[in-house]
Amino acid sequence: MLILDSPTAMRAWSQGRRTSSRTTIGLVPTMGALHDGHLALIDAAAQRCDLVVVSIFVNPLQFNRTDDFDLYPRPLDDDLAQCRARDVAAIYAPTPDSMYPRDFETNVCPGSLADPLEGVGRPGHFRGVTTVVAKLFNAVAPDVAVFGRKDVQQLSLIERMVADLDMPIEIIGVDTVREPDGLAMSSRNRRLTPELRAAAVVVPRALEAAVAAARARPRADPEALRRHAIEVIDAEPHARLEYFELVDPSTLREPTRDDGPLLAVTAIWFDDVRLIDNRLIPHS
Ligand code: PAJ
Repeated sequence: MLILDSPTAMRAWSQGRRTSSRTTIGLVPTMGALHDGHLALIDAAAQRCDLVVVSIFVNPLQFNRTDDFDLYPRPLDDDLAQCRARDVAAIYAPTPDSMYPRDFETNVCPGSLADPLEGVGRPGHFRGVTTVVAKLFNAVAPDVAVFGRKDVQQLSLIERMVADLDMPIEIIGVDTVREPDGLAMSSRNRRLTPELRAAAVVVPRALEAAVAAARARPRADPEALRRHAIEVIDAEPHARLEYFELVDPSTLREPTRDDGPLLAVTAIWFDDVRLIDNRLIPHS
């Protein structure tokens, strides 16, 4: 397994592989601290492509809190071992300087899909994401790139970017991988104390409460479903709700029809750790 640490080295490797005409490359972009969620993306890429590249880069551009960036876990040796075990062909772990030299100043600016939900509390976050993902795509030149549905707004934005900017890359979405108690796997879970980890189960429970309420009352008012979920969150003293919304899955805005699926999306704080999750809600 090769480790490539600059855009130039990455592109040279990718071009070299392609001389053997039909070789396909699948990219899994990550910020490291790999868990089973990331491994599911690697497996999805391996199913579709001859060679899998995993990028590991904690992207400073997408953090709007320096403490979050500084505290982000970086267990690189562990990550490399997991990738080796999965037959990953190459790791793209660019140095910050090779990604953002001193005179760097061009960004990919997303449209209105970046404004609601995560965009409200994390200004500039998605601009950092689309910019780094465009750079990763240019360096790796993959045929396929795989993203998780856990970050559903990110996935929508990447699909939009690829369509809008004519990038010849197929985007694959993979379902959220969860712990046995339902908590979505996340690199940030590592920062929860045992007490907060126990409290965090309220995130999937609140989403489940909205699903259960929707099943019990087909075509229920989204606001009533939301209230069910918020009651569950309010009952957990360690949870601080940032948002819980029911949106149209394609626009990520308030639904305009009273039938069709809804997407429940939430961000909840446990002390200084912010967790996000979402679930599709049957609604017809
Ligand atoms: P990161 O948080 O490391 O996530 C990398 C990929 O793993 C994303 O596509 C994310 O949606 C997916 N993922 C995370 N947890 C998951 C889970 N429990 N089940 C399934 N997939 C999961 O997202 C980023 O990094 C960055 O924003 C990045 C796209 C790499 C750009 O910097």
